[in-house]
Amino acid sequence: MNKGIFITFEGIEGSGKTTQGKLLAEKLKKEGFPVLYTYEPGDTEAGKHIREILLNSEIKITPLCELLLYVADRIQHIEEKIKPHLEAGFIVICDRFTDSTVVYQGYARGISIDLIEKLNKELFSELMPDLTVLLDCSASIGLGRNKKVNKKDRFEMENLSFHEKVREGYLELARINKERFFVLDATEPINVITEKIYKKVKSIIECRS
Ligand SMILES: Nc1ncnc2c1ncn2[C@@H]1O[C@H](COP(=O)(O)OP(=O)(O)OP(=O)(O)O)[C@@H](O)[C@H]1O
Ligand SMILES: [Mg+2]
Repeated sequence: MNKGIFITFEGIEGSGKTTQGKLLAEKLKKEGFPVLYTYEPGDTEAGKHIREILLNSEIKITPLCELLLYVADRIQHIEEKIKPHLEAGFIVICDRFTDSTVVYQGYARGISIDLIEKLNKELFSELMPDLTVLLDCSASIGLGRNKKVNKKDRFEMENLSFHEKVREGYLELARINKERFFVLDATEPINVITEKIYKKVKSIIECRS
């Protein structure tokens, strides 16, 4: 149905999603492909406000409130950005998407995974990624890379075991959805990872043309 290609980047904090998503976008743009790099949460006007609530650890919210704020952000994001660009034939690279919600709010926060998957199916099933790049590394490596001097966001406040649950959740999703997931060792050098992702994406582009 989509004319474009939808690629999502997933992984724990500090695994390299933004680094790799942006490098891939640049490489493809240089070759003349129409590319949109975008992210969740917060890449729309409404989303910016939702992101502020979601990531500000000083604002108290319940896990279910958190889940539905992510869903609200995603609905706006899809309508405003993802769908129109896919319909126009763009390669859309999205830094986090529905898998993040399943692992953070489900596997790690403990909300019913069944409920989250029902919501995803009901609301987002027409936007199944063509490829999900999972950058896998241990929580201590990922969090160790992301040392912030200023205040930490809601997820950076969580302990190592929370982030290990996130990692395990991702690996479980990758086992269940083998056809869509591309799992990479996020401890390899940045350029080595970029090259692997690029080759994978090119093979998808070639299959389409
Ligand atoms: N393969 C790598 N080896 C070593 N350092 C890396 C690698 N990939 C990324 N980094 C560095 O790790 C830090 C975190 O990377 P990045 O911001 O891309 O992660 P992220 O997954 O987007 O994190 P977040 O979930 O917090 O947004 C950056 O300083 C980046 O330069
Ligand atoms: Mg990032």
